Amino acid sequence: MGKKIFSGVQPTGNLHLGNYLGAIKNFVKLSNDKNNQCIFCVVDLHAITVFQDPKDLRNNICETVATFVASGIDPKKSIIFNQSQVSAHSEAAWILSCIARMGWLNRMTQFKEKAGKDKEKASIGLYSYPVLMAADILLYDSTHVPVGDDQKQHLELCRDIAQKFNNDFHLNDFFKVPEPLIQNQFSRIMSLKDGLKKMSKSDSSDLSRINLTDKKDEIINKIKKAKTDPMPMPSSPEELEKRHEAKNLLGIYSSLSDYTLEKTINEFSGKNFSEFKEKLSQVIVDKIVPISVEIKKLLDEKKYLDEILLDGCKKANEIATKKIKKIHEILGF
Ligand code: TYM
Repeated sequence: MGKKIFSGVQPTGNLHLGNYLGAIKNFVKLSNDKNNQCIFCVVDLHAITVFQDPKDLRNNICETVATFVASGIDPKKSIIFNQSQVSAHSEAAWILSCIARMGWLNRMTQFKEKAGKDKEKASIGLYSYPVLMAADILLYDSTHVPVGDDQKQHLELCRDIAQKFNNDFHLNDFFKVPEPLIQNQFSRIMSLKDGLKKMSKSDSSDLSRINLTDKKDEIINKIKKAKTDPMPMPSSPEELEKRHEAKNLLGIYSSLSDYTLEKTINEFSGKNFSEFKEKLSQVIVDKIVPISVEIKKLLDEKKYLDEILLDGCKKANEIATKKIKKIHEILGF
Protein backbone atom coordinates (compact mmCIF):
# COMPACT_ATOMS: atom_id res chain seq x y z
CA MET A 1 0.00 0.00 0.00
CA GLY A 2 1.14 3.54 -0.72
CA LYS A 3 2.19 5.91 2.01
CA LYS A 4 0.46 9.09 3.14
CA ILE A 5 3.34 11.51 3.36
CA PHE A 6 3.23 14.82 5.20
CA SER A 7 6.02 17.24 5.89
CA GLY A 8 6.56 20.93 6.50
CA VAL A 9 9.20 23.61 6.05
CA GLN A 10 9.27 26.99 7.77
CA PRO A 11 9.24 30.02 5.47
CA THR A 12 11.94 31.85 7.37
CA GLY A 13 14.33 32.49 4.44
CA ASN A 14 17.76 31.09 3.66
CA LEU A 15 16.71 27.55 2.83
CA HIS A 16 20.01 25.69 2.71
CA LEU A 17 21.78 22.50 1.80
CA GLY A 18 20.81 20.98 5.18
CA ASN A 19 17.13 21.48 4.41
CA TYR A 20 17.70 20.00 0.97
CA LEU A 21 19.71 16.92 1.95
CA GLY A 22 17.89 16.30 5.24
CA ALA A 23 14.37 16.74 3.92
CA ILE A 24 13.53 18.16 0.49
CA LYS A 25 15.57 15.62 -1.48
CA ASN A 26 13.55 12.91 0.22
CA PHE A 27 10.26 14.77 -0.46
CA VAL A 28 11.09 14.68 -4.17
CA LYS A 29 11.90 10.98 -4.15
CA LEU A 30 8.74 10.07 -2.22
CA SER A 31 6.56 12.28 -4.38
CA ASN A 32 7.83 10.57 -7.53
CA ASP A 33 6.40 7.26 -6.35
CA LYS A 34 2.91 7.04 -7.81
CA ASN A 35 1.68 4.96 -4.87
CA ASN A 36 2.30 7.74 -2.37
CA GLN A 37 -0.03 10.58 -1.53
CA CYS A 38 2.12 13.58 -0.61
CA ILE A 39 1.34 16.80 1.21
CA PHE A 40 3.98 19.49 1.68
CA CYS A 41 3.18 22.39 3.91
CA VAL A 42 4.76 25.83 4.14
CA VAL A 43 4.41 26.24 7.89
CA ASP A 44 3.89 29.98 8.27
CA LEU A 45 2.15 29.56 11.66
CA HIS A 46 5.32 27.91 12.94
CA ALA A 47 7.40 30.76 11.52
CA ILE A 48 5.69 33.41 13.66
CA THR A 49 6.75 31.73 16.90
CA VAL A 50 9.60 34.22 16.52
CA PHE A 51 8.88 37.69 15.12
CA GLN A 52 8.72 37.87 11.32
CA ASP A 53 8.59 41.03 9.27
CA PRO A 54 5.30 40.67 7.34
CA LYS A 55 6.83 41.65 3.99
CA ASP A 56 9.71 39.20 4.43
CA LEU A 57 7.32 36.49 5.52
CA ARG A 58 5.22 36.93 2.39
CA ASN A 59 8.33 36.71 0.20
CA ASN A 60 9.66 33.73 2.10
CA ILE A 61 6.38 31.84 1.66
CA CYS A 62 6.72 32.33 -2.12
CA GLU A 63 10.37 31.35 -2.00
CA THR A 64 9.59 28.13 -0.12
CA VAL A 65 6.95 27.14 -2.66
CA ALA A 66 9.39 28.01 -5.45
CA THR A 67 12.04 25.84 -3.76
CA PHE A 68 9.71 22.86 -3.56
CA VAL A 69 8.84 23.13 -7.23
CA ALA A 70 12.40 23.95 -8.37
CA SER A 71 13.68 20.90 -6.47
CA GLY A 72 11.33 18.64 -8.40
CA ILE A 73 8.02 18.39 -6.53
CA ASP A 74 5.22 18.43 -9.09
CA PRO A 75 2.32 20.56 -7.74
CA LYS A 76 -0.09 18.59 -9.90
CA LYS A 77 0.81 15.35 -8.14
CA SER A 78 1.43 16.61 -4.60
CA ILE A 79 -0.50 19.04 -2.45
CA ILE A 80 1.52 22.17 -1.65
CA PHE A 81 -0.16 24.70 0.64
CA ASN A 82 0.49 27.14 3.44
CA GLN A 83 -0.62 26.28 6.92
CA SER A 84 -2.32 29.59 7.83
CA GLN A 85 -4.82 29.11 5.00
CA VAL A 86 -6.27 25.95 6.52
CA SER A 87 -7.72 27.04 9.84
CA ALA A 88 -8.12 23.46 11.06
CA HIS A 89 -4.39 23.51 11.94
CA SER A 90 -4.80 26.23 14.55
CA GLU A 91 -7.93 24.63 15.91
CA ALA A 92 -6.49 21.14 16.14
CA ALA A 93 -3.36 22.57 17.78
CA TRP A 94 -5.52 23.99 20.59
CA ILE A 95 -7.40 20.76 21.08
CA LEU A 96 -4.20 18.70 21.09
CA SER A 97 -2.62 21.12 23.54
CA CYS A 98 -5.25 19.86 25.98
CA ILE A 99 -4.02 16.30 25.35
CA ALA A 100 -0.25 16.94 25.44
CA ARG A 101 1.32 17.07 28.91
CA MET A 102 3.59 19.82 30.22
CA GLY A 103 6.14 17.20 31.19
CA TRP A 104 6.37 16.01 27.58
CA LEU A 105 6.92 19.51 26.24
CA ASN A 106 9.44 20.34 28.95
CA ARG A 107 11.70 17.69 27.47
CA MET A 108 11.89 19.24 24.02
CA THR A 109 15.52 20.10 23.37
CA GLN A 110 14.80 22.38 20.41
CA PHE A 111 12.80 24.72 22.63
CA LYS A 112 15.68 24.86 25.09
CA GLU A 113 18.10 25.65 22.27
CA LYS A 114 15.90 28.23 20.63
CA ALA A 115 14.73 29.95 23.79
CA GLY A 116 18.29 30.18 25.05
CA LYS A 117 19.04 31.45 28.53
CA ASP A 118 16.05 33.74 28.81
CA LYS A 119 13.14 31.30 28.64
CA GLU A 120 10.81 33.82 30.29
CA LYS A 121 10.98 35.95 27.17
CA ALA A 122 10.26 33.17 24.66
CA SER A 123 6.78 33.19 23.11
CA ILE A 124 4.25 30.63 24.29
CA GLY A 125 4.03 29.61 20.64
CA LEU A 126 7.70 28.66 20.60
CA TYR A 127 7.03 26.38 23.57
CA SER A 128 3.89 24.74 22.20
CA TYR A 129 5.27 24.60 18.64
CA PRO A 130 5.55 20.76 18.60
CA VAL A 131 1.83 20.48 19.38
CA LEU A 132 1.02 22.48 16.24
CA MET A 133 3.36 20.18 14.38
CA ALA A 134 1.42 17.17 15.69
CA ALA A 135 -1.81 18.82 14.51
CA ASP A 136 -0.33 19.26 11.02
CA ILE A 137 0.55 15.61 10.77
CA LEU A 138 -2.49 14.05 12.43
CA LEU A 139 -5.12 16.02 10.50
CA TYR A 140 -4.14 14.21 7.31
CA ASP A 141 -3.93 10.64 8.67
CA SER A 142 -0.29 10.79 7.63
CA THR A 143 1.51 7.48 7.81
CA HIS A 144 5.06 8.72 7.15
CA VAL A 145 6.83 11.98 7.89
CA PRO A 146 10.14 12.68 6.12
CA VAL A 147 12.32 15.03 8.18
CA GLY A 148 15.91 15.71 9.17
CA ASP A 149 17.32 14.30 12.38
CA ASP A 150 16.56 17.48 14.40
CA GLN A 151 12.80 16.82 14.18
CA LYS A 152 12.95 13.29 15.60
CA GLN A 153 11.95 14.29 19.12
CA HIS A 154 8.99 16.32 17.83
CA LEU A 155 7.76 13.30 15.93
CA GLU A 156 7.98 11.13 19.02
CA LEU A 157 5.84 13.69 20.80
CA CYS A 158 3.36 13.60 17.93
CA ARG A 159 3.12 9.83 18.29
CA ASP A 160 2.53 10.17 22.05
CA ILE A 161 -0.23 12.74 21.48
CA ALA A 162 -1.95 10.52 18.88
CA GLN A 163 -1.83 7.52 21.19
CA LYS A 164 -3.09 9.43 24.22
CA PHE A 165 -6.01 10.88 22.26
CA ASN A 166 -6.92 7.42 20.95
CA ASN A 167 -6.68 5.96 24.47
CA ASP A 168 -8.55 8.77 26.24
CA PHE A 169 -11.52 8.39 23.92
CA HIS A 170 -11.29 4.58 23.60
CA LEU A 171 -10.65 4.74 19.90
CA ASN A 172 -8.44 2.20 18.29
CA ASP A 173 -7.06 3.94 15.33
CA PHE A 174 -8.65 7.38 15.03
CA PHE A 175 -5.34 9.17 14.77
CA LYS A 176 -2.81 7.24 12.74
CA VAL A 177 0.45 6.98 14.64
CA PRO A 178 2.95 8.23 12.04
CA GLU A 179 6.38 6.80 11.28
CA PRO A 180 9.30 9.18 10.96
CA LEU A 181 11.30 8.84 7.75
CA ILE A 182 14.80 9.91 8.72
CA GLN A 183 17.69 8.91 6.52
CA ASN A 184 20.17 6.57 8.18
CA GLN A 185 23.16 8.57 7.09
CA PHE A 186 23.53 12.30 6.47
CA SER A 187 20.30 13.26 8.23
CA ARG A 188 22.06 16.11 10.06
CA ILE A 189 24.16 18.43 7.92
CA MET A 190 26.52 20.57 9.97
CA SER A 191 27.75 24.15 9.67
CA LEU A 192 30.69 24.70 7.30
CA LYS A 193 32.37 26.68 10.07
CA ASP A 194 31.79 24.33 13.01
CA GLY A 195 31.27 20.60 12.60
CA LEU A 196 29.46 20.37 15.94
CA LYS A 197 26.78 22.93 15.05
CA LYS A 198 23.83 22.18 12.79
CA MET A 199 23.73 24.03 9.45
CA SER A 200 21.03 26.57 10.14
CA LYS A 201 19.10 29.44 8.59
CA SER A 202 19.63 31.55 11.65
CA ASP A 203 23.44 31.31 11.84
CA SER A 204 24.71 34.88 11.59
CA SER A 205 27.52 33.82 9.24
CA ASP A 206 26.41 33.20 5.67
CA LEU A 207 29.67 31.29 5.20
CA SER A 208 28.32 28.60 7.53
CA ARG A 209 25.81 27.36 4.97
CA ILE A 210 25.17 26.81 1.27
CA ASN A 211 21.90 28.54 0.48
CA LEU A 212 19.71 27.03 -2.19
CA THR A 213 19.78 30.43 -3.91
CA ASP A 214 23.60 30.70 -3.95
CA LYS A 215 25.41 31.26 -7.24
CA LYS A 216 28.33 29.16 -8.48
CA ASP A 217 31.01 31.60 -7.28
CA GLU A 218 29.46 31.83 -3.82
CA ILE A 219 29.39 28.04 -3.49
CA ILE A 220 33.02 27.68 -4.59
CA ASN A 221 34.08 30.41 -2.18
CA LYS A 222 32.18 28.93 0.78
CA ILE A 223 33.65 25.46 0.22
CA LYS A 224 37.15 26.95 -0.13
CA LYS A 225 36.68 28.67 3.22
CA ALA A 226 34.97 25.69 4.91
CA LYS A 227 36.77 24.57 8.05
CA THR A 228 38.86 21.38 7.81
CA ASP A 229 41.76 19.99 9.82
CA PRO A 230 45.47 19.64 9.11
CA MET A 231 45.39 15.84 8.81
CA PRO A 232 45.41 13.99 5.45
CA MET A 233 42.16 12.67 3.96
CA PRO A 234 40.98 9.66 5.98
CA SER A 235 41.20 6.09 4.77
CA SER A 236 38.48 4.66 7.04
CA PRO A 237 35.25 5.91 8.71
CA GLU A 238 36.77 5.28 12.18
CA GLU A 239 39.34 7.99 11.53
CA LEU A 240 36.50 10.49 11.26
CA GLU A 241 35.18 10.04 14.77
CA LYS A 242 36.76 13.19 16.12
CA ARG A 243 37.12 15.00 12.81
CA HIS A 244 33.68 16.57 12.68
CA GLU A 245 34.30 19.04 9.87
CA ALA A 246 35.90 16.49 7.59
CA LYS A 247 33.12 14.03 8.32
CA ASN A 248 30.49 16.60 7.46
CA LEU A 249 32.08 17.55 4.13
CA LEU A 250 32.53 13.91 3.15
CA GLY A 251 28.91 13.31 4.16
CA ILE A 252 27.69 16.16 1.95
CA TYR A 253 29.67 14.76 -0.98
CA SER A 254 28.29 11.26 -0.36
CA SER A 255 24.71 12.39 0.01
CA LEU A 256 24.79 14.48 -3.17
CA SER A 257 26.45 11.67 -5.11
CA ASP A 258 24.23 8.96 -3.60
CA TYR A 259 27.37 7.22 -2.30
CA THR A 260 27.98 5.57 1.02
CA LEU A 261 30.50 7.35 3.24
CA GLU A 262 32.84 4.38 2.76
CA LYS A 263 32.78 4.78 -1.01
CA THR A 264 33.62 8.48 -0.77
CA ILE A 265 36.43 7.76 1.69
CA ASN A 266 37.90 5.21 -0.71
CA GLU A 267 37.69 7.66 -3.59
CA PHE A 268 39.67 10.36 -1.77
CA SER A 269 41.92 8.39 0.53
CA GLY A 270 45.56 9.52 0.17
CA LYS A 271 44.58 12.66 -1.75
CA ASN A 272 44.73 16.16 -0.34
CA PHE A 273 41.88 18.29 0.95
CA SER A 274 42.16 20.92 -1.77
CA GLU A 275 41.52 18.32 -4.44
CA PHE A 276 38.54 16.96 -2.48
CA LYS A 277 37.15 20.47 -1.98
CA GLU A 278 37.32 21.12 -5.73
CA LYS A 279 35.31 17.97 -6.43
CA LEU A 280 32.91 18.78 -3.60
CA SER A 281 32.26 22.27 -4.99
CA GLN A 282 31.59 20.70 -8.36
CA VAL A 283 28.92 18.26 -7.08
CA ILE A 284 27.26 21.02 -5.06
CA VAL A 285 27.28 23.39 -8.02
CA ASP A 286 25.89 20.67 -10.32
CA LYS A 287 23.01 20.02 -7.93
CA ILE A 288 22.25 23.41 -6.43
CA VAL A 289 22.81 25.88 -9.28
CA PRO A 290 20.00 24.47 -11.50
CA ILE A 291 17.68 24.65 -8.46
CA SER A 292 18.82 28.18 -7.67
CA VAL A 293 18.25 29.30 -11.30
CA GLU A 294 14.79 27.73 -11.30
CA ILE A 295 13.86 29.35 -7.96
CA LYS A 296 14.72 32.77 -9.38
CA LYS A 297 12.68 32.08 -12.51
CA LEU A 298 9.67 30.95 -10.48
CA LEU A 299 9.88 33.99 -8.21
CA ASP A 300 9.11 36.11 -11.28
CA GLU A 301 5.94 34.08 -11.75
CA LYS A 302 4.14 35.05 -8.55
CA LYS A 303 0.76 34.35 -10.13
CA TYR A 304 1.74 30.75 -10.79
CA LEU A 305 2.99 30.34 -7.21
CA ASP A 306 -0.25 31.82 -5.86
CA GLU A 307 -2.25 29.39 -7.99
CA ILE A 308 -0.29 26.46 -6.56
CA LEU A 309 -1.06 27.60 -3.00
CA LEU A 310 -4.71 28.28 -3.76
CA ASP A 311 -5.21 24.87 -5.34
CA GLY A 312 -3.27 23.14 -2.54
CA CYS A 313 -5.22 24.99 0.11
CA LYS A 314 -8.56 23.85 -1.36
CA LYS A 315 -7.44 20.22 -1.35
CA ALA A 316 -5.88 20.37 2.11
CA ASN A 317 -8.89 22.17 3.54
CA GLU A 318 -11.21 19.47 2.31
CA ILE A 319 -9.26 16.73 4.09
CA ALA A 320 -8.56 18.70 7.29
CA THR A 321 -12.11 19.99 7.71
CA LYS A 322 -13.50 16.46 7.58
CA LYS A 323 -11.08 15.36 10.28
CA ILE A 324 -11.88 18.36 12.49
CA LYS A 325 -15.61 17.60 12.23
CA LYS A 326 -14.96 14.08 13.46
CA ILE A 327 -12.81 15.45 16.29
CA HIS A 328 -15.71 17.71 17.35
CA GLU A 329 -18.04 14.73 17.49
CA ILE A 330 -15.57 12.70 19.53
CA LEU A 331 -15.07 15.53 22.02
CA GLY A 332 -18.80 16.13 22.46
CA PHE A 333 -18.85 19.67 20.99
P1 TYM B 1 12.55 23.47 9.42
O1 TYM B 1 11.85 24.50 8.62
O2 TYM B 1 13.49 23.94 10.48
O3 TYM B 1 13.40 22.53 8.48
C1 TYM B 1 12.80 21.90 7.37
C2 TYM B 1 13.37 20.50 7.21
O4 TYM B 1 14.80 20.57 7.03
C3 TYM B 1 15.43 19.69 7.97
N1 TYM B 1 16.72 20.30 8.35
C4 TYM B 1 17.89 19.65 8.30
N2 TYM B 1 18.21 18.42 7.93
C5 TYM B 1 19.52 18.06 8.00
N3 TYM B 1 20.51 18.90 8.40
C6 TYM B 1 20.23 20.16 8.79
N4 TYM B 1 21.21 20.98 9.16
C7 TYM B 1 18.87 20.59 8.76
N5 TYM B 1 18.23 21.77 9.06
C8 TYM B 1 16.93 21.55 8.81
C9 TYM B 1 14.47 19.62 9.15
O5 TYM B 1 14.69 18.45 9.90
C10 TYM B 1 13.13 19.63 8.46
O6 TYM B 1 12.76 18.33 8.05
N6 TYM B 1 9.18 21.84 12.70
C11 TYM B 1 9.63 21.71 11.34
C12 TYM B 1 8.57 22.01 10.31
C13 TYM B 1 7.27 21.31 10.48
C14 TYM B 1 6.99 19.96 10.15
C15 TYM B 1 5.61 19.78 10.41
C16 TYM B 1 7.78 18.91 9.67
C17 TYM B 1 6.11 21.85 10.92
N7 TYM B 1 5.11 20.95 10.86
C18 TYM B 1 5.01 18.54 10.22
C19 TYM B 1 7.16 17.68 9.48
C20 TYM B 1 5.79 17.51 9.74
C21 TYM B 1 10.77 22.69 11.13
O7 TYM B 1 10.90 23.67 11.80
O8 TYM B 1 11.52 22.43 10.03
